[in-house]
Amino acid sequence: MAVTINTLRDYKRNGEAFSVLTAYDATFAQAVSEAGVDAILVGDSLGMVLQGNDSTLPVTMDDMCYHTRAVARGNKGALIMADMPFMSYGTLPDALSNAAALMRAGAHMIKLEGTDWMEGTIHALSERGIPVCAHLGLTPQFVNKFGGYKVQGRDEKHAELMLEHACQLEAAGADVILLECVPAELAARITRTVRAPVIGIGAGAATDGQVLVMHDMLGITPGRRPRFVKDFLKETGTIQTAFAAYAEAVRTRQFPGEEHTFKA
Ligand code: KIV
Repeated sequence: MAVTINTLRDYKRNGEAFSVLTAYDATFAQAVSEAGVDAILVGDSLGMVLQGNDSTLPVTMDDMCYHTRAVARGNKGALIMADMPFMSYGTLPDALSNAAALMRAGAHMIKLEGTDWMEGTIHALSERGIPVCAHLGLTPQFVNKFGGYKVQGRDEKHAELMLEHACQLEAAGADVILLECVPAELAARITRTVRAPVIGIGAGAATDGQVLVMHDMLGITPGRRPRFVKDFLKETGTIQTAFAAYAEAVRTRQFPGEEHTFKA
């Protein structure tokens, strides 16, 4: 049966963990969905892992629509989330028309990076029938404001602010919250506080779901591997079994372990 937003809500209600992986084309979308991964994220990480850029900023709406269409063709029942790329939601008219384009391309939900300034945008999208995931913590589109890819919410002031933003964005209509590179205790607190399902990456084991970038979990991303990544291909030997092992490790809460987690 196809995974919907209600499936993710049921998982949260029942305390069952769900898995998300990025995919950017039809073949991998089919393999990921057939392996039992609940949701596919067509991430703007494609700017780095497919296009070879050093950030996600060069990714365009045309890129996102192209890859979302390809994923939708290959997908076998996973929920498809698609990233709104850098500056595609800077104004409300842009946000509405660009989110509509991604939904027409086959997304079931769109993802935005930011904090309380997105309240009005999320409200308007939600009112018009577009499910939204609000991405907080280390939001890669803000890398130049952060001065690098750093864990967010480590001190009390920023931790409280992130919790406040999660509540505000949920109240505005966000259906899902995604936390990237956040201390595990803070992610657990946000997960307990909001009713929306919370997906984590580098956010500890207590979030409702987990997401990884596919190239990272296959161990093929060049350069230093971030702390929160586990190479599932190394222990399984084939791409299909690596996807299935990831889905199972998330479901049984074997992944992420302490070694993949940040502390305040
Ligand atoms: O673009 C992406 O793949 C993402 C994940 C890292 C969550 O936003």
